[in-house]
Amino acid sequence: MAQTHDVVIIGAGAAGLMCAATAGYRGRRVLVLDHANKPGKKILMSGGGRCNFTNLNSSPANFLSENPHFCISALKRYTPHDFLELVERHGIEHEEKAAGQLFCRHSAREILDMLLTECDWAGVEIRMKTGVTGVTTTAAGYRLETSAGPVECEALVIATGGLSIPTMGASGFGYELARQFGLPIVPTRAGLVPFTLHAELKAHLAPLAGISCPVEVSCNNERFREPMLVTHRGLSGPAMLQISSFWHPGDSLSINLLPAHDPHGGLRTLRRQQPGQTVERYLSQFLPKRFAQAFALQYGWSRPLQEYRNHELDAIADTLSGWTLTPAGTEGYRTAEVTLGGVDTRQLSSRTMEASDQPGLYLIGEVVDVTGHLGGHNFQWAWASGVAAGNVA
Ligand code: FDA
Repeated sequence: MAQTHDVVIIGAGAAGLMCAATAGYRGRRVLVLDHANKPGKKILMSGGGRCNFTNLNSSPANFLSENPHFCISALKRYTPHDFLELVERHGIEHEEKAAGQLFCRHSAREILDMLLTECDWAGVEIRMKTGVTGVTTTAAGYRLETSAGPVECEALVIATGGLSIPTMGASGFGYELARQFGLPIVPTRAGLVPFTLHAELKAHLAPLAGISCPVEVSCNNERFREPMLVTHRGLSGPAMLQISSFWHPGDSLSINLLPAHDPHGGLRTLRRQQPGQTVERYLSQFLPKRFAQAFALQYGWSRPLQEYRNHELDAIADTLSGWTLTPAGTEGYRTAEVTLGGVDTRQLSSRTMEASDQPGLYLIGEVVDVTGHLGGHNFQWAWASGVAAGNVA
């Protein structure tokens, strides 16, 4: 005999747990199934272990989707302040790091513990290490074949996340299930992911690994002014992670290494005031010394400034404000924070996350084609879409 529940949620991550507690408080008998050994693994590793759990400035403009208006309704009805109120009710200390980005002061575990406590208070049952092998429809809803026997429910919520970090339990199961029920999938790719470089540039930059500097990077009409980090494999840091979501193979990046300065005027002024100085000296006023050294060396800018004519200084300034490079690729799902694309939202209700042609089937969180910028927006989407479905499922 199959066990029956009102709501079964596949995926004990951010969106699934939020949805479970919300539905549980409505008096629904909720079961959460997850194939991993522990719930909320991505919450634990997020924000460098401190979980950037929301962003006070989150707005639909911070999300990518083929259907950009889809996220508006859920985000409006469950706001960053609603989540913050929950966090404060649980006495979790937090701090604002960059504008609007809220992190736990101590540990991401506090956010996971808060969600598990809410689920407990709401009477939710969570079963880990439970794989789902098949889903079929019944007269009353859905029947799931699981590694712990069959389960039946009225409402089925898919909260299986994206493909990033497979070692944390990520799988394509949510997409397969969506396809089974006739829902199209917007092609997926890794987002918020570091870039890899071609051998020559990689070798040149490798000694600078660990150096971070503020830049403005642009690609495909998007730009971000944030720090860039040189790594042993290529380029990372918030600027590169952000722009990676807009980059496609073969695209070039344009990097302004001095976004807060005017190298055209600055180089001429320095030449006038200290003609014997070098480009490296000019650069090291604004960039880490080792970076300035390596950059000047790479371009052969070694002569005293007085030996450069105006057009030569302008060309140097152009390179500094528009350093152009074509990444070899990205590190892919192995290290990506998110998966772009996913279940096509045009087949879902933006108010409830229910599939239009499949009553009782809901899709929430990262598995759907809504992807946030870096900075707490992805969790805000997980909370908001989880609440939207939890209020009706
Ligand atoms: P999530 O991935 O959290 O959960 C999915 C669950 O489904 C998992 O528990 C998984 O085991 C389970 N599952 C998958 N397939 C299954 C199957 N076949 N059967 C059963 N269960 C299955 N965002 C942010 O806003 N602020 C931040 O600080 C960070 N930091 C960050 C760091 C790193 C390293 C990563 C990888 C990601 C982030 N993110 C982030 C992104 C954020 O973690 C992500 O967007 C949310 O966790 C998505 O929540 P979901 O619940 O949709 O998926």
